[in-house]
Amino acid sequence: MTQRVDLLITNASQVCVVPSVNGGPQRGKALGTLGIVTDGAVAVDGGQIVEVGAAADLRLRYDAARTINADGRAVVPGFVDPHTHLAWVGDRAAEFEQRIGGATYMEIMAAGGGINSTVRAVRAASVEQLVDETRARLNRVLRNGTTTVEIKTGYGLDTVSELKLLDAIFRLAAEHPATIVPTFMGAHAVPPEYDGRTDAFVDLIVHEMTPAVAERLRSYSQETPVFVDVFCEPGAFDLAQSRRVLEAGLTHGMRAKIHADEFASIGGARLAVELSAVSADHLVTTPDADIVALGQADTVAVALPATPFGLGHTHYTPARALIGAGAALALATDCNPGTAWCESMPFVMALACRYLRITPAEALAAATLNAAYAVGLGDQVGSLEPGKQADLLILDVDDYRHLAYRFGGNLVQTVIKGGQVVASV
Ligand code: NIG
Ligand code: FE
Repeated sequence: MTQRVDLLITNASQVCVVPSVNGGPQRGKALGTLGIVTDGAVAVDGGQIVEVGAAADLRLRYDAARTINADGRAVVPGFVDPHTHLAWVGDRAAEFEQRIGGATYMEIMAAGGGINSTVRAVRAASVEQLVDETRARLNRVLRNGTTTVEIKTGYGLDTVSELKLLDAIFRLAAEHPATIVPTFMGAHAVPPEYDGRTDAFVDLIVHEMTPAVAERLRSYSQETPVFVDVFCEPGAFDLAQSRRVLEAGLTHGMRAKIHADEFASIGGARLAVELSAVSADHLVTTPDADIVALGQADTVAVALPATPFGLGHTHYTPARALIGAGAALALATDCNPGTAWCESMPFVMALACRYLRITPAEALAAATLNAAYAVGLGDQVGSLEPGKQADLLILDVDDYRHLAYRFGGNLVQTVIKGGQVVASV
């Protein structure tokens, strides 16, 4: 008896399942468990994975409405990018040149440029312009194999403009094939009208912006979790201010994320653990004690190697120490116009292998399953286990390791989201 399914993908040289370990992300030594099936196939029905197994076996047992012949290529889960600032207008190419000339990122920010330069552009833009410019990036992100992407607000920094960004993100979520996870980041920088009055700006976030965002969220049908995030860094928000921002979001039903230890360590990673944040991100200057704390917590440690690379820095997340401590390591692009305009998770994997010294298998698990846990969707996406969304990629190569080994091109041939082909070259 054959079972009728919508889709059978056959003749894959490798199918990388990237299974959950103990019902959760791949932590510590378990990172890089790929569950590879060689000469494999994937059966899909109702937009979900039904089974992964030997192609010869699945061809006999399933009667598929549509068959895709992977023709000896590798199949991997769609990438999950759990940290982006994808919603913006304009660019900051001039600051890139200033940095090459010796100015630092935080110096440019203190002089009124940096994040606040994009804030000026976003405040002046219409929601249509925001949607159009962001859609173009999102389309490239999808073609590079990312099927689930987190997008933060944070270039509005007043209530009206933060709501405009949120509206743009939800419009894209409604029209685009990628799953979009929204994050409220009113605490991304201190806007010019609050210069020198960070506590007053935090009051605005806590008492006005967060409730207004929560109210607007109720008008959308929201299928993914919604997050609150803060840039916990000297020159942005200190530890006490970061705590207030996150607690306000938590009170309004959001889940916590944090930008911690990007340039200096002021305790952001420990705060993440204390508040049971879903993820702590950047983690470049994280002290040993906080690495140990992350190793014992559910908080996913998200490394963003495109950011130090984009800034021309040489210090990266101490990934081996985090893995050694038992942490769940994930990767993300941090795609933004200032530090890292990077739309490619495979490029992030390529950087991570070289500068974080993780293996291609560890990088793949960090960019898929663990990244899904970093946006609270570990039970729905990120691996090719039965019951999960059928989000998968057919590569142009027969070995997944080429994703990290090569760089500068795009090795994704076909992108399948919820069982539908959404991009193909
Ligand atoms: O994660 N650090 C804060 N936010 C971004 C940069 C955003 C920008 O410069 O526009 C980051 O690196
Ligand atoms: Fe960021």
